[in-house]
Amino acid sequence: MKVEFYKHNISQQDIDNVVGVLNSLFLTTGEVVSEFEGRFSRYLGCGYTVGVTSCTAALHLSLLACGIGAGDEVITTPMTFIASANSVLFTGARPVFIEVEPETGNINADLIEDAITSRTKAILPVHLYGQMCDMRKIREIADKHHLAVIEDAAHAIEAVRDGIRPGQLGDAASFSFYATKNITSGEGGAISTNSEEIAERLKKLRLHGMSKGAADRYSRRYEHWDMEMLGWKYNMSNIQAALLLNQLENIEKRWQRREQICRMYEEAFKKDSGITCLKVLPNSKSARHLFTILVPPKRRDSIMGQLQERGIGVAVNFRAIHLLTFYRQTFGYKRGSFPIAEKIGDSTITLPLYPKLSNEEVQYVIKVVKEVTTN
Ligand SMILES: Cc1ncc(COP(=O)(O)O)c(C=O)c1O
Repeated sequence: MKVEFYKHNISQQDIDNVVGVLNSLFLTTGEVVSEFEGRFSRYLGCGYTVGVTSCTAALHLSLLACGIGAGDEVITTPMTFIASANSVLFTGARPVFIEVEPETGNINADLIEDAITSRTKAILPVHLYGQMCDMRKIREIADKHHLAVIEDAAHAIEAVRDGIRPGQLGDAASFSFYATKNITSGEGGAISTNSEEIAERLKKLRLHGMSKGAADRYSRRYEHWDMEMLGWKYNMSNIQAALLLNQLENIEKRWQRREQICRMYEEAFKKDSGITCLKVLPNSKSARHLFTILVPPKRRDSIMGQLQERGIGVAVNFRAIHLLTFYRQTFGYKRGSFPIAEKIGDSTITLPLYPKLSNEEVQYVIKVVKEVTTN
């Protein structure tokens, strides 16, 4: 049997929505983007959403909109995709890593205050795999020290913790619509915020700092525009937004299937001494973006190889980023700097997880994982 690592769920309705845009006058940022932004804000219970081209762009712009720049420090986690820390570097600031929780892989909020210096300007928590970080605690620390909170919610659209959703306590939350995400436009991203001021700045920053977007310039009589600040070219197009509209409508239904699959995996592996699953904490709804298991680090790569030989698509999310060559060479990090993150990074394997996965395929993955981990 062949079980792909990921299969998207693009429906005929999604395709029809894109065709509708292709048959219209306006392909770039316009009414369809505004429609998506409005619906996304309503879904999250946030004031404003700004559509961009990726979560990397969303993080970069969120940091800029919160005034982060050269010489500043941003506290974040080494257990994430490089985009989280790279976006800090794009602004000229420095990412300062701290250790993670063993049970979730999320940033350990109890260690944040020790890492704060006179240069610290923001905290960048990453809601890993879909389990939210402790946003109440993080907000409290940020308020005490006058720091911004920029959430990396690439994995966490559907997530809730202690009644809080991404973007509700952070100054801004960044989302990804990359090809394998819970809803996707191939590439794409968004920022949600409750601050009108940040939203206005983000709208300019996503398009060269221009005072008017294409829709303002061309839909009515031509209007002159000004460049009010230095911005980037990160604006979401109507084509991307059209792909997302209907996926967002169905997001909870799709999430339920993800939850079902994760529970099948968790039930099957709970008695296996060689396999550990990371935790969904009480009072939380995980967005269930990635299902990862931890296996003995010395055997991880060989187990992955065997899974692939038996037709199962796998990935590693993630090797701890402070150990990647650039971060070692630039900041002098070394093995031992963050042992918990390193242990997760050396042990983790991500299994297939998407609504189209059949029960038969899930059972096959479980059977093969059990066989290759006990051999
Ligand atoms: C935790 C995390 N943050 C940010 C990103 C970047 O997302 P994008 O590819 O949309 O830039 C990813 C991508 O997978 C991610 O996993």
